[in-house]
Amino acid sequence: MAQEIWWASPSFWRKSAIWVTGLSFVILIFLTFDTVKQITAGSPRVPAYSVINKRIDYVFNTERNFQVPVIGQDEPLFGKMLTEEEAEALVSHGKLTTQAKNCMNCHTLLGNGSYYAPDLTKSWLDPSWGSKEAREQGMVDFLMNPQDRLHNALGRKMPNLGITEDEAKATVAFLKWMSSIDTNGFPANFKPIDQADAPVAAAPATAEPAPEVSAAPAQQ
Ligand code: HEC
Repeated sequence: MAQEIWWASPSFWRKSAIWVTGLSFVILIFLTFDTVKQITAGSPRVPAYSVINKRIDYVFNTERNFQVPVIGQDEPLFGKMLTEEEAEALVSHGKLTTQAKNCMNCHTLLGNGSYYAPDLTKSWLDPSWGSKEAREQGMVDFLMNPQDRLHNALGRKMPNLGITEDEAKATVAFLKWMSSIDTNGFPANFKPIDQADAPVAAAPATAEPAPEVSAAPAQQ
């Protein structure tokens, strides 16, 4: 019969298919384990849950050419420093709330979800909360009663999802923690809320009345 060319033989393609599938399987297993440690809380890109005790900012990094989260000074959420375990419990409660209430039905989290409502990755840093002092309570109030507000210029309102105060606080913790994740610059061109502290009063506050330096020109 006609001589078969090696690359046209069915057995060559059968063997190739088996080898390629086998090799891809091994590579995928390797990548899976390699990724797990990069997406675990407490790794360089995904900070430990106790990061909610700190100020989190989103700053342009010239070396990487995009914005990255910057963990700053102590700024405990709701004024309470939490241990790692307490922080994990709170953030997990918040995460479970976002799952139970199906926030991804309208929002994206880390870019995943639906595009009806804003992405929540940096929602903790949204300037629309007004000021960093007003933000925590503002977020809790919004989550519990969003239906009668227009928070952004989006023109769409979020429905009331029956979120309790505990769930709202935990959700805020979850959102604060999420804003600290290094997402390779996602979302880009995001202008974060101003978190600078109010300037310290010009004159140091002392208990005694200021001597001689009184600005009042009238002397008797
Ligand atoms: C039915 C759709 C829908 C669902 C479900 C939904 N939201 Fe919203 N959400 C919206 C819309 C629309 C807005 C924009 C409202 C506005 O700007 O006034 C919004 C705004 C927000 C904001 C303000 C965003 C920002 O960056 O300032 C937060 C935070 C938020 N939602 C959190 C949540 C959480 C947490 C859940 C789940 C517990 C949730 N949403 C579920 C529709 C939804």
